[in-house]
Amino acid sequence: MQKMLNSILALYQQGGDLVYAGEPVTQLMHAWQCGRLAEKSGASVALQLASWLHDVGHLWVNLEGTPTLRGQNDAHEKIGAEVLLPVFGPAVSEPVRLHVQAKRYLVSTRESYARKLSPDSVRSLHLQGGPMAQQECATFEAEPYFADAVKLRVWDDLGKKSAWFDDSRHDALDHLTQLMYLVAREKVIQI
Ligand SMILES: [Fe+2]
Ligand SMILES: [Fe+2]
Repeated sequence: MQKMLNSILALYQQGGDLVYAGEPVTQLMHAWQCGRLAEKSGASVALQLASWLHDVGHLWVNLEGTPTLRGQNDAHEKIGAEVLLPVFGPAVSEPVRLHVQAKRYLVSTRESYARKLSPDSVRSLHLQGGPMAQQECATFEAEPYFADAVKLRVWDDLGKKSAWFDDSRHDALDHLTQLMYLVAREKVIQI
C-alpha cells in the first residue's frame, strides 16, 4: 500500500510540470484545480481524491506531445482506474473510469455542454466514441457512480485555467499526500 502511494505521488513530483496535452495548464495545475473545485463543492474526500487523480493514467503511460493530434487515444481512464482500485476502492476508481464516458453522456444530454468543450476535448471525444446514443445514456445512468462521474467531468472541464494555482508546488503535493492517506486509511477501516 505504502509503496503504491509513493509511486502515485512520484508521478506528480516527476511529471506534474508536464504540459497537459492541448491545454494551457500543467498536469499538476489541472489535477489541483479539479481537486479544489471538488472540495469547494463539498464533495466527499473520495470524490475529491478522484478529481485530483482522474488523469493519473496520462502520467502512467506518459505519451509524448498531444496524442489526439496523432489520432491516438491513450485509454487513460481505464489505466487510471486499474491503478487506483486496489489502493482506494471503487469510490475513487469508478468516477475516474467513467469520466470519459461522462463527457460522451453530457454531450448527448446537455445542449450547452458540447459548445464549451476545449478543442482538444472535442478531438478526443471523437476518438473516444463520440456522443452517446440514447440506449448508452440509459445504461450509463444506471452505473452506481454515475452522479459522481458527471460531477467530476464538469470540474474536469472547468479545471483548465492558465492562471489559477494558489498553492505552492510543495503545498499542493502535501495536500494530495494527506488526501491519499486519508482515503486509503478509510478503505482499510471499511474492510
Ligand atoms: Fe481525462
Ligand atoms: Fe482531465
